[in-house]
Amino acid sequence: MPPLPKAELHLHIEGTLEPELAFALAERNGVELPYATQDELRAAYSFTDLQDFLNLYYALMAVLRTEDDFADLANAYLARAREQGVRHAEIFFDPQAHTARGVDIGTVIRGLTRALDAAPRAYGITTRLIMCFLRDESAESARATFESARPYLDRITAVGLDSAEVGHPPSKFREVYALAREAGLKCVAHAGEEGPPAYVWEALDILGVDRVDHGVRCLEDETLVARLVADQVPLTVCPLSNVRLRVVDRLADHPLPAMLDAGLLVTVNSDDPSYFGGYAEDNFTAVRDALGLDQAALRTLARNSFRASFLDEETRAAYL
Ligand code: ADE
Ligand code: ZN
Repeated sequence: MPPLPKAELHLHIEGTLEPELAFALAERNGVELPYATQDELRAAYSFTDLQDFLNLYYALMAVLRTEDDFADLANAYLARAREQGVRHAEIFFDPQAHTARGVDIGTVIRGLTRALDAAPRAYGITTRLIMCFLRDESAESARATFESARPYLDRITAVGLDSAEVGHPPSKFREVYALAREAGLKCVAHAGEEGPPAYVWEALDILGVDRVDHGVRCLEDETLVARLVADQVPLTVCPLSNVRLRVVDRLADHPLPAMLDAGLLVTVNSDDPSYFGGYAEDNFTAVRDALGLDQAALRTLARNSFRASFLDEETRAAYL
């Protein structure tokens, strides 16, 4: 069966950097990688937790230097996404991970948007960009990043919050989210991946998020689940990521069916597909096989992905 048409709502563009492209860009930019071969690099993709993954994820970004690099990265993702039934992608990027290495935020955004602007015709995929703040950096750094992005805000749909969660609650970023909302941007945040349900409450009540990224730990707080259900707040769940980062032990133990049964507006996404063993459809087939989800449940997940998207009402309705 061809893959169901779907929207990808939780996808870090830097997490789509495949070993093959990493080596090609390293060569092009004269960057030395601490791995001799692609296989040696792939062998390092065994993670004990989120931080263990993030260490490699940030290190490998050293190969991304020019506008062309960011355009090539996005084009490689879009070509894969098309094969996986993705019709619409809302794509995270981490500006601070690049500006900290001396790469200008304009270089990042111009490179990405060059590929994204061509994507409807080249791949049949519409896109949005979500600018994430690194929560393990300071609130001041997030605010300075937001100010440096002001010339490009017409290209950015939402702000997000990612990187090491525990110890960095959403409330730390109250001011910059207020600025983003004032500027007319949507808001999302990673919460309840490794962090407690209290972080999901903060994302909702202090940051005013339109969606919660991950959110799987909401199940530990039934009042929180009731709130998420009542408001139909979308959760962008990433099953293969949760296994690789040991949020769950095995895919067969994943709480996705319980989340659907609870009436949560759940979507299935790929997070960092190069590192976690699969793109969007790979996540759909993995949950089908491990959790016994039937075709009706998969169709619900695909429909939810459009319902939860930032597409305008009319375009969204055409997918439902
Ligand atoms: N950055 C890239 N992937 C992430 C994840 N799963 N959680 C937090 N930050 C991330
Ligand atoms: Zn993520």
